[in-house]
Amino acid sequence: MQDIIEQARAVFVQRFGTKPVVYGVAPGRVEVLGNHTDYNGGYVMSAAIDRVTVVAAGKSDTAVCRVYAVQKDAESVFHLEDIQPDPHDRWADYVKGVVVELRKARVPVEPFHAVVTGNVPIGAGVSSSASLEVATAMALLELNGTRLPQWEVARLCRRAENQFVGMPCGILDQFSSVFGEKDSILFLDTRTEEHEAIHLPSGSFGLILVHSMAHHTLVSGDYATRHRECMEAAAWFRVRLGEHIQVLRDVTWEQFQQWQDQMPEPLRRRARHVISENRRVLQGRAALHRGDVVVLGEMMYASHESSRVDYENSTPELDLLVQLARQHGAIGARLTGAGWGGATVNLVREDEMEEFARRVADAYTAQTGIHPTVYRCHIAPGATAIHD
Ligand code: GLA
Repeated sequence: MQDIIEQARAVFVQRFGTKPVVYGVAPGRVEVLGNHTDYNGGYVMSAAIDRVTVVAAGKSDTAVCRVYAVQKDAESVFHLEDIQPDPHDRWADYVKGVVVELRKARVPVEPFHAVVTGNVPIGAGVSSSASLEVATAMALLELNGTRLPQWEVARLCRRAENQFVGMPCGILDQFSSVFGEKDSILFLDTRTEEHEAIHLPSGSFGLILVHSMAHHTLVSGDYATRHRECMEAAAWFRVRLGEHIQVLRDVTWEQFQQWQDQMPEPLRRRARHVISENRRVLQGRAALHRGDVVVLGEMMYASHESSRVDYENSTPELDLLVQLARQHGAIGARLTGAGWGGATVNLVREDEMEEFARRVADAYTAQTGIHPTVYRCHIAPGATAIHD
């Protein structure tokens, strides 16, 4: 992380002629269990990883904000009083959206300069976008001398993505980036906001991310379509079960089973995924508390199957990676994040990790001709702000 901060500092000095005042640092996350449950009021398990976005910031001496993204080699320039999305610089929308929301929350944001850099893989399903939002919020809050509670930061960043970027995501990514804890898997009830960090038995097993390197666009019609289908499925149950059904979280597995034969497709399968996934997260959480990683792994495999068949957000490449993971001894494996490309997360015994990664990568390349990228996830703390 220190090297990324050094890089941000050097680029900032070169570009703006002064040192930055503050660095917002925010991690990406891996979704362990709970696929597309978050915007349905459900449960999720996740972990922040040791890949971060850094936003170095300082005040501007003009009325103009300038934000330079190292990886894109692009600069976005805007006035605080006239912030518009830019289809040519989508990355900057995540920054601008946060600025808009900070101002709505009455944080006194002044014109600023910023440099964005980091090592969160983009398009791998580890939420580089939320890490950019959270790092921006952390930097600008500190730069403008304001503190907000952690939950407020997470919610504000989600609103930025929902409203400014136009992606109807839940809170999972922003929550994980803010609340991450070293060596712990996070559990969140998105309805009540109850959450806990469950410490992993150290040295026993770890998480490996295998990026399928197949196309993945987060702001896609598919995500919005699933969101809409879930709301329609909840409305279908509301008519039959009563006004207390707001989201699919409110429908029990028993109720679903009782009514499913009458439900139209694809709503029935979307509902079956979300409602069964909520049960898997609760079972996975209980298993982790008992230290029973085998059951957690089974839940992960079952989750992938449910995403594949009922939610239809997998891809042939992700399915192949999960199949190879099973063949090569992973305790559990599944797609992670939105889906339609991106990566799988694999729960693997510590002493088998290297061998596992090599074998899965080789077999995947042999069958597809694609070289996957493999990351060992070190579970890391959540976002912070650091003064220069
Ligand atoms: C994306 C969204 C999250 C969540 C996951 C799927 O990462 O940003 O809010 O819905 O997909 O679980």
